[in-house]
Amino acid sequence: MATWALDPGVTHLNHGSFGACPSEVLEYQAGLRSEMERNPVGFMLHTYQPALETNRSALAKFIGADADGLVFVPNATYGVNSVLRSLEGVLARGAEILLTNQTYNACINAARVTADRIGGSVVVADVPFPVGSSTDVVAAILDSVTEQTALVMLDHVTSPTGAVWPVADIVAALEPDVPVLVDGAHAPGMIELDVSAVGASFYTANCHKWICSPKGAAFLWVDERHRDTIRSASVSHGYNDGWPDSSSRFHAQFDWTGTDDPTARLSVAKALEAVGDHHVDGWAGIRRSNRELVVAGRDIVAEAIGLEGYPVPEDMLGSIAALPLPAPTVAGASIFDELMVDLHHKWKIEVPVFAWPEAPARVIRISAQQYNTIADYERLAEALNAELR
Ligand SMILES: Cc1ncc(COP(=O)(O)O)c(C=O)c1O
Repeated sequence: MATWALDPGVTHLNHGSFGACPSEVLEYQAGLRSEMERNPVGFMLHTYQPALETNRSALAKFIGADADGLVFVPNATYGVNSVLRSLEGVLARGAEILLTNQTYNACINAARVTADRIGGSVVVADVPFPVGSSTDVVAAILDSVTEQTALVMLDHVTSPTGAVWPVADIVAALEPDVPVLVDGAHAPGMIELDVSAVGASFYTANCHKWICSPKGAAFLWVDERHRDTIRSASVSHGYNDGWPDSSSRFHAQFDWTGTDDPTARLSVAKALEAVGDHHVDGWAGIRRSNRELVVAGRDIVAEAIGLEGYPVPEDMLGSIAALPLPAPTVAGASIFDELMVDLHHKWKIEVPVFAWPEAPARVIRISAQQYNTIADYERLAEALNAELR
């Protein structure tokens, strides 16, 4: 059973933002680093590519994707940027990129840049929150598709609102006519993921969130139809010469994007093995117990803030959950930052508070990972009782 490197004096209820990595995985990564520094050239030119392939194969199996279409990127933001930048030469002038009111801010920015470059526009589908069911999500998104829609960007698990969206249903209604880029930043390790079954043109996600790999490991999977079009946001040797041992031009675009510390992506297989070992039922057990814990934690927090009814039905929850907070007591003022900062400084609780739908209205998002216990949510409830009084 792996242990966590987390500070025991802090209540960690924000696994969603940056993940956390078990000590044994960090030790494994440190071992790779010292091996690399003993002979940097030998490591980069001879050890790196076979180790990358081992990790690619393990990840491909875990996410239900073919390894030929799978590349590592440093984070989901990079994956989204790589797709958008590559499509700039392909999308029609004036085309629309459809995203939603719950899209992650960095990805909205990336889409805006592409829309500007092609003389097009970003269209925002208004998906309800509180949300009644998955069907409401599908309807809200499909209703915003027009003749000009050239790309749809969808979150698999929404960042500010913590809901698992029925991406396969939406993709089925759009592809192959309208390509879909799924941002599954939170999905692998949180929910059962089968990238092939999702059926989108592009799927990017992080390993450093719920797979608990070291930070700087994420992936992009691209459907065969687009593999000649998509290249890394950082163009390197793979664009013409290839990288010596890459199995295809598509892999070569991403396998080497310039010198960096590759040990995070080379530790993904280790994280899959080590975290899976945390539970007698392996990853299925991890996902189930995290979900059960966040459901229980949500009840505790809801009671503390006097919430009646939930904004996301239980069958749309993974292992994060957002709850609306009562409005700030000072009319017109936003205490969005102050509450989160007070919880950090005064209570040593890490939990995100987002403005939603816009300040001063806000939501608090809790998470559940193997290191959490019910006492963590009780402590948050106590803190909220005191701070919101
Ligand atoms: C939906 C979504 N997309 C993208 C990201 C960005 O992840 P990263 O910073 O690892 O690129 C996040 C991070 O929380 C996210 O929630």
